[in-house]
Amino acid sequence: MKFPKDFLFGAASASYQVEGAWNEDGKGLSNWDVFSKLPGKTFEGTNGDIAVDHYHRYVEDIGLMAEMGLESYRFSISWPRIIPNGQGEVNEKGIEFYNNLINECLKHGIVPFVTLYHWDLPQVLEEAGGWTNKNTVEAFVEYARVCFEAFGDRVKHWITFNETVVFCAHGYLAGAHPPGIVNDPKKYFQATHNVFLAHGRAIKEYKRLNQYGEIGITHVFSPAFSIDDNKDNIWAADHSNEFELNWYYDPILKGKYPEYVVDIIEKNGWTPDWTASELNEIAEAAPLNDFIGLNYYQPKRVAKNTASADSVATGREKSTGAPGNVSFDGAYKTVMMEDKVYTKWGWEISPEGFLQGLRMLKERYGDIKLYITENGLGDEDPIIQGEIVDVPRINYIKEHLKAVKTAIGEGINLKGYYAWSVIDLLSWLNGYKKQYGFIYVDHKNNYNRKKKLSFYWYKHIIETRGEEL
Ligand code: BG6
Repeated sequence: MKFPKDFLFGAASASYQVEGAWNEDGKGLSNWDVFSKLPGKTFEGTNGDIAVDHYHRYVEDIGLMAEMGLESYRFSISWPRIIPNGQGEVNEKGIEFYNNLINECLKHGIVPFVTLYHWDLPQVLEEAGGWTNKNTVEAFVEYARVCFEAFGDRVKHWITFNETVVFCAHGYLAGAHPPGIVNDPKKYFQATHNVFLAHGRAIKEYKRLNQYGEIGITHVFSPAFSIDDNKDNIWAADHSNEFELNWYYDPILKGKYPEYVVDIIEKNGWTPDWTASELNEIAEAAPLNDFIGLNYYQPKRVAKNTASADSVATGREKSTGAPGNVSFDGAYKTVMMEDKVYTKWGWEISPEGFLQGLRMLKERYGDIKLYITENGLGDEDPIIQGEIVDVPRINYIKEHLKAVKTAIGEGINLKGYYAWSVIDLLSWLNGYKKQYGFIYVDHKNNYNRKKKLSFYWYKHIIETRGEEL
């Protein structure tokens, strides 16, 4: 079987992780420009000042994407490049950059798939309370409208937010992302609600403009599975899915928060400051959502946590899904299992968990249109006689694409796959050491690009529309 004709083979990036040019052409400061320079916050103090210099080399990079046969490029827009102070004056140089980027994609027949928010918030807004401040919601809708009006004649696929669970949990529970707050569930839930509200208002605005494209949101997709048949552990997996899947997917797809979580946060005094009319707006926005983007790297293997609450991890290694962490409420822990396979960074490799999760999603939400907006292997790639032989990445993507094929065969409405990432880029907390790309960047040698083995492999997969998978 070949992949359907309208299925998009793509790859992705994000502004802060590739662009660099952090203070050029009128760009404002982002929260990451500031946070990454605080001592001890990132791996070896790495930051995105230069990143992989995509801002200056996008022509070459898109040329390489075209050579790979890429059908679609998912990238994000840097909000402070467009509106340096978060609200108000628009930076025409910023608009010009993304116009050039989009036009360059279109010149090669590459479909631009644009994320509005991949974590680089204007610093001015961060300082005013970031996503806990309702004014950020207003500011986001204004920024989204500017982008729709500037680029919407050519961009027909929009993602509002990337991985709300990550920037909110890292920002307000683990303290690993800006604003670096540790263990404040009240702020965490407030931030998530404000993001859902901003998403709802932005998609309403998009529909009002009648641009005849599609718009959705991208979430982490890390379904939890109990480590065994023990009823406490099964409860723990359900609890995890309520808090990390349903809390995120329900308001977008059902227009309503899951009651299980609403009850628990109420009892703990963590309920966001929300109004009946905001809840109504979220309900009204749900049917306007055209698709949901899934970022899948790994499932969660979950057991009930029996240790005391003060052993709850809050450090920066606490990542969604990765084993060895205790949930913020102390209810469950993620476990490394002997019979599973892990990456060098301890993330489980499980195409089976992916497929099982997709089936769960279909059961809960029906035939909603899906894109896999991220999936890939973070590795330190072997270099043999000057060639980057990233065989583990090829195997990882191959197995996950097979799962996608099976899912499509089962009637799951999956319309595209975006490997993370198109080119090696800055990992927020792991620097340049953790590579994901089809294209290698030589940081010691003028940021020169080099095609990896996976580049040729993916090219072949696209050419043959995955028939051999
Ligand atoms: C996702 C993000 O969470 O995972 C990406 O959307 C990120 O921006 C990717 O780079 C991989 O994460 P990491 O920590 O391995 O670089």
